[in-house]
Amino acid sequence: MEIALLGGTGDIGEGLALRWARDTDHTVVVGSRDSEKATHRADDYRTLLDERGVEHDVIGVDNETATERADVVVLSVPPEYAVSTVETVSNGLTSDDVLVSPAVSMDRDGAGFHATPPEDGSVAQAVAGAAPDVPVVGAFQNLAAGALSDLDTELRTDTVVTGDDPEATALVRSLAEEIDGLRALDGGPLAVTALVESVTPLLINLAMNNEGMHDLGVRFQ
Ligand SMILES: NC(=O)c1ccc[n+]([C@@H]2O[C@H](COP(=O)([O-])OP(=O)(O)OC[C@H]3O[C@@H](n4cnc5c(N)ncnc54)[C@H](OP(=O)(O)O)[C@@H]3O)[C@@H](O)[C@H]2O)c1
Repeated sequence: MEIALLGGTGDIGEGLALRWARDTDHTVVVGSRDSEKATHRADDYRTLLDERGVEHDVIGVDNETATERADVVVLSVPPEYAVSTVETVSNGLTSDDVLVSPAVSMDRDGAGFHATPPEDGSVAQAVAGAAPDVPVVGAFQNLAAGALSDLDTELRTDTVVTGDDPEATALVRSLAEEIDGLRALDGGPLAVTALVESVTPLLINLAMNNEGMHDLGVRFQ
């Protein structure tokens, strides 16, 4: 399977790319608006994996090519650009693809971080509105990029997966669970994704307010 990370040059993209490349046999396609940047970042990821003696399959291409190639497309871009990125790559999307939204819209004031969901209810629902023919799944919103990117960190974390297409949701849950230490829970339909997205500002506030806590995740038990 080919997994594309649009904006895979950034923080969460790096973490997911390294984990999927290390823990699975899937082809990881690092996407960028700039194909040269994608190539360089893919080189960086391959070097890190080579240093660990890990076999991997990582390539870097522009976002449009990444979308055309891949079966699963993760929108690892800032939330305010999730919809415009979908519009940019829409020619390469088919109803057989799965779009994954890890995005969290949030703002910070004197009290800390707050969720600032778009009018659609959640970023994932806004993405679904921009790609009505493609199954959209919410996942990975509560993972800390720092923990994912540090391959010495042993994960013991959950990700809540939401979506309206049972096959697409099951596929993303299984891809998530192929990452060592990550458990994927069925969170219900896309309509409740705001609940999941709103946990991330809570995690960041907890990390800021409590000494020694950083890169927090959630484990439900
Ligand atoms: N960071 C985390 O710990 C974390 C955790 C969970 C979820 N998330 C979510 O994951 C998404 C990405 O977060 P991040 O921290 O990885 O973001 P980031 O590092 O700030 O950006 C990711 C990539 O987005 C691309 N990008 C920047 N501006 C863009 C624009 N105007 N249009 C299209 N693409 C643009 C850039 O790639 P190119 O320049 O190569 O195109 C950049 O490398 C966000 O929605 C965030 O809410 C992040």
